[in-house]
Amino acid sequence: MKLTLRVWRQKNADAPGAMVTYEVDSISEDMSFLEMLDTLNEELTLKGEDPVAFDHDCREGICGACSLVINGDAHGPERTTTCQLHMRSFKDGDTIDIEPWRAAAFPVIKDLAVNRSAFDRIIQSGGYISAATGTAPEAHSTPVPKPDADYAFEHAECIGCGACVAACPNGSAMLFTSAKINHLNVLPQGAPERETRVLDMVAQMDTEGFGGCTLTGECATACPKGIPLMSITNMNREWLRAQRKAGKR
Ligand code: FES
Repeated sequence: MKLTLRVWRQKNADAPGAMVTYEVDSISEDMSFLEMLDTLNEELTLKGEDPVAFDHDCREGICGACSLVINGDAHGPERTTTCQLHMRSFKDGDTIDIEPWRAAAFPVIKDLAVNRSAFDRIIQSGGYISAATGTAPEAHSTPVPKPDADYAFEHAECIGCGACVAACPNGSAMLFTSAKINHLNVLPQGAPERETRVLDMVAQMDTEGFGGCTLTGECATACPKGIPLMSITNMNREWLRAQRKAGKR
């Protein structure tokens, strides 16, 4: 395949950025999108030019490091992570626009790499669970109803990639935050910190400058792990419950 790439290039957070056009040839449809970018970078390096900076780690759809807006869509045209997107989703001769996540709370570090440490601070604000650690407890010592276990697991699938924020017109992190809260709040092990967790994480989310949710649903559509929009409603219910318990409502 022969492709025209229009890539966002930006030296650092303070420098102005611009789309720069590159032509790539000999791209196999079996390549992943990141392998296609590797090919571009090899060519740039051989020419003595600065390669394009972009995030990646596992390249298996697990870590959430990869983060590109491709032709206007977070992670591109398929509902998957950028590293699991393959070039067979494009046609020979296509022009592809490649940009970083666009959100005030995710400042650009360089080119396509953004700083997502705001997510880490939201998770840190949730604190630890106070369940005893040590050797694995006997499996039946803390019974968990099957629907609760399934619900927790569904939310634990969030890999924190930030596609929800990038897709949201408000730059909201409510889908991410709700996934982290619902994952622990439904389980007996997460019960002792149920109220403080939701209050502190939502407060940190607001402090980081993420926008509010207006239920456009773009977040759930872009999420490569299928975290449902209802997750946000459930977080709001948890937050109201915690506020009432704290005597604030
Ligand atoms: S590089 Fe790990 S999910 Fe894409």
